[in-house]
Amino acid sequence: MEIEQVIIAQHGAADVMELKTVDLPPPGEGEVQIRQTAIGLNYMDVYQRSGHYPLETPSPLGLEAAGEIVEVGNGVTGLSVGDRVVYGGVLGAYASHRNAPAARLVKIPDGISNDIAAAAMLKGMTAEYLLERTYKVQPGDKVLFFAASGGVGQIAGQWGKRLRAEMIGVTSGADNCQRALDLGYAHAIDRKSEDIAARVKEITGGAGVPVVYDSIGKATFETSIACLATYGVFVSFGSTTGNAPPVEPGLLQKAGSLYFTRPTLANYVGPRPDLEHSASRVFEMIHDGHVTINIDQRRPLSEIVAAHTDLEAGVTTGSTIFLP
Ligand SMILES: NC(=O)c1ccc[n+]([C@@H]2O[C@H](COP(=O)([O-])OP(=O)(O)OC[C@H]3O[C@@H](n4cnc5c(N)ncnc54)[C@H](OP(=O)(O)O)[C@@H]3O)[C@@H](O)[C@H]2O)c1
Repeated sequence: MEIEQVIIAQHGAADVMELKTVDLPPPGEGEVQIRQTAIGLNYMDVYQRSGHYPLETPSPLGLEAAGEIVEVGNGVTGLSVGDRVVYGGVLGAYASHRNAPAARLVKIPDGISNDIAAAAMLKGMTAEYLLERTYKVQPGDKVLFFAASGGVGQIAGQWGKRLRAEMIGVTSGADNCQRALDLGYAHAIDRKSEDIAARVKEITGGAGVPVVYDSIGKATFETSIACLATYGVFVSFGSTTGNAPPVEPGLLQKAGSLYFTRPTLANYVGPRPDLEHSASRVFEMIHDGHVTINIDQRRPLSEIVAAHTDLEAGVTTGSTIFLP
């Protein structure tokens, strides 16, 4: 069958991505074929495209999508033609149709649309493991979260509020600060015009926060250290501005017996029970109205280059989905 698929011939800037018509074979052992109706855009796609996370090229791209099963391969149990499914973390999502391992798919519950599932799965599972497992946020914790108005950040603000934390969001500009406050952050810090560490000290009465979730990397490493309380946990979960520097044990000692971790979703949802747990927490949070997923950008897959350019320039908010 002929399908539309985004391919990169080599790593590079956004324009290395090309939408091509290619042939898709039937699903293999343990796979199903999905007609995808919504594809999620994630910052991790940028790392894979640019080579920050290298791929073997030529390569397909994209990690998250939702759609309907149109064919079931041998050895698959529990999934049927017509089922609506979603995944977050299986390379090759930028396509109209694809074959995917049944073991990595989750059925979408009634009441949640494919668009919302594709916008929420990877980012929502990230918020789940960061706030509930990497550091288990406690009621009353003051929690610092970077890129508060972005995809993961919007979900995390609402999720943290539900856990009764006092969420402190860092974002850029007055509009994004207001958006963060509307979404559950108790405080919003404008990274363009404010001293982040000074504001955090003011909010925490000089003590600092017990946990920082920093996805910015290189540019914010020192600021994040300065914001942490004694025994604080530095969760470095992204590198939007490049990798955080190597961490000297002596620095953790001097800054107050800190902990440093660099977690990744692939580990936290690797085992099937963990994937099911994480996905069901995301669906539950959405279903119960604690987390609203804002799809602020909907684009055809043919606008893939512009969509990556916008995400990298930091001009998007919330989730972006592609409609193939
Ligand atoms: N480790 C994991 O398991 C995992 C899983 C998923 C995502 N992540 C990471 O989480 C982060 C958020 O991902 P996302 O897909 O939701 O992206 P996103 O937050 O929607 O987009 C990135 C945001 O970073 C902010 N930013 C800060 N400094 C920037 C700079 N110098 N240049 C450009 N942008 C800058 C911008 O927000 P403001 O202007 O509002 O600050 C921008 O909107 C990414 O770093 C991603 O790699 C990690």
